[in-house]
Amino acid sequence: MESNTISVTTVQTTPYTDQKAGTSGLRKKVSVFKQENYLENFVQSIFDSLKDDEVHTKSLVLSGDGRYYNDIAIQKIAKMAAARGFGKVVIGQNGLLSTPAVSAVIRQLNKEVEGSCTGGIVLTASHNPGGENNDFGIKFNSSNGGPALENLTDAFFSRSKEISEYKYAELPEINLTEIHQENPVQVEGYEHEFIAEVISSTDIYVSLLKSLFDFDSIKALMARSDFNFAYDGMSGVAGPYARTIFEEELGVPAENLYGCDPSPDFEGGHPDPNLTYAENLVKVMGVTIKGANVATDTTPDFGAAADGDADRNMVLGKGFFITPSDSLAIITANHGAISYMKDITGVARSMPTSGAVDIVAKELGIDVYETPTGWKFFGNLLDADKIVICGEESFGTGSNHIREKDGIWAVLAWLSIIAHKNSETTEGNLVSAEQIVRDHWKKFGRNYYSRYDYENLETETADKIFETLESKMEQFRNEEEGNVADIFEYTDSVDGSSSKNQGWRFMYKDGSRFIFRKSGTGSSGATIRIYLESYNKDNTELETAEALKNLSEKALEYCEINEISGREGPTVIT
Ligand code: G6P
Ligand code: ZN
Repeated sequence: MESNTISVTTVQTTPYTDQKAGTSGLRKKVSVFKQENYLENFVQSIFDSLKDDEVHTKSLVLSGDGRYYNDIAIQKIAKMAAARGFGKVVIGQNGLLSTPAVSAVIRQLNKEVEGSCTGGIVLTASHNPGGENNDFGIKFNSSNGGPALENLTDAFFSRSKEISEYKYAELPEINLTEIHQENPVQVEGYEHEFIAEVISSTDIYVSLLKSLFDFDSIKALMARSDFNFAYDGMSGVAGPYARTIFEEELGVPAENLYGCDPSPDFEGGHPDPNLTYAENLVKVMGVTIKGANVATDTTPDFGAAADGDADRNMVLGKGFFITPSDSLAIITANHGAISYMKDITGVARSMPTSGAVDIVAKELGIDVYETPTGWKFFGNLLDADKIVICGEESFGTGSNHIREKDGIWAVLAWLSIIAHKNSETTEGNLVSAEQIVRDHWKKFGRNYYSRYDYENLETETADKIFETLESKMEQFRNEEEGNVADIFEYTDSVDGSSSKNQGWRFMYKDGSRFIFRKSGTGSSGATIRIYLESYNKDNTELETAEALKNLSEKALEYCEINEISGREGPTVIT
């Protein structure tokens, strides 16, 4: 061994049995990740599941949303990556990259040198709270920039059950605070060099977005006296991107940006952009937790919030909540306002997302795909150019520019649409976001939509609820002519893979439906989601709760959730 060679240490370990990834990576309490070799076992399982030629000399993007344990995990994983034979790790400054930025960086590296980047490890538990007593997470994204598909995550899990050792290189600590390249090193056992590079967290992502949207027209909108914009980064990783894009590029006053300093525990908050948890923005925008309008003259005209890793978005008009399902439909209907999306082949939504976008797709004469919950299911459709826009009810919207949902992209899409609709209006006569939504409903009809979350149920309770549902499917089918009850299954039209048990569906002939799903993103207990949807072509001005009253009663009656769980109602309603 040459004197400047970094040695590799092999550590004996025993498997953990619970390293099965959920909807989006492995998410557990920090205390779980801190167990002896827990993180190392999982990371080594990922690395072992990749072939040598996918790893040796290749780059790995490695960063996270800045939550507690982010920096410690980065140092550990970089050492393991060097020992596995990677040629390079690419890390965002201060260990920060949003989930969409990771996707953008992976794709950019592969655009520069085809096949150079194997993928990335994203350290995030997304919208779950962070801090020492809360959640941490590890997610692997593949070379297309998208979350690993099930065959790969299954391989990680299998490997984790039989792992007996892991390896790390005795690298010096990487300086995460400065944009630079560490000195290349020779790692024992390899002929190539290993290098750690710290890049700007924002540059690649911001340039990408600037290439997609007409920043000048958005800037002109921002400059209007009758338009005021507010953004809440919820103390997650969206902050640095929001400052660069909204403040520096588009001229939004700094005081309109809230929660834009990433904090390891999200300042004690729950970084999930919905009416319950995005408390601050909801108040700023003059909306109540139930979505009612309490705006005043000084309320901003448009606002948005992101989750911890900045892939989710909630958009609000002045005193007006826009559901994610409507947002997807409206972006699709107005795709022509955004030049790179002028021609669209198709769109996709997750199954529980409302059918509002289907109605638009029909009108536009484009294809629409219904996938299981989880962004990864859009990957193949995007790669095959079957779709351009996709979205989910869970506050995720995105397009073919990357392979993750993208919180800031969604805001820019909306701002582009508002700018477009106002290209000829005079100041004082702004066509508002609310007006755009109401006009949309008038044209296409309205899919009234709501989601009830019963969080943190005992696993046995949840199982019992699903058993009850299954036992009552026949009763539902017999209740009315045309009723359908089933368990959603999906076959990917690109690779033929299939996914079962993706939601218990009760659907009426007129398209109204209630659906039950077990959340795949929790870190403890079980969360049941109930999705309610009812379409009305003509009457689009009802209160959501009123429009869904009967359906909601039916749904609760069918699943007996309150009776079985002893709860009085949902933890969160959106
Ligand atoms: C993550 C994924 C989304 C998915 C959501 C579902 O955020 O990135 O694609 O829609 O989880 O969460 P759930 O808790 O309903 O499984
Ligand atoms: Zn997220």
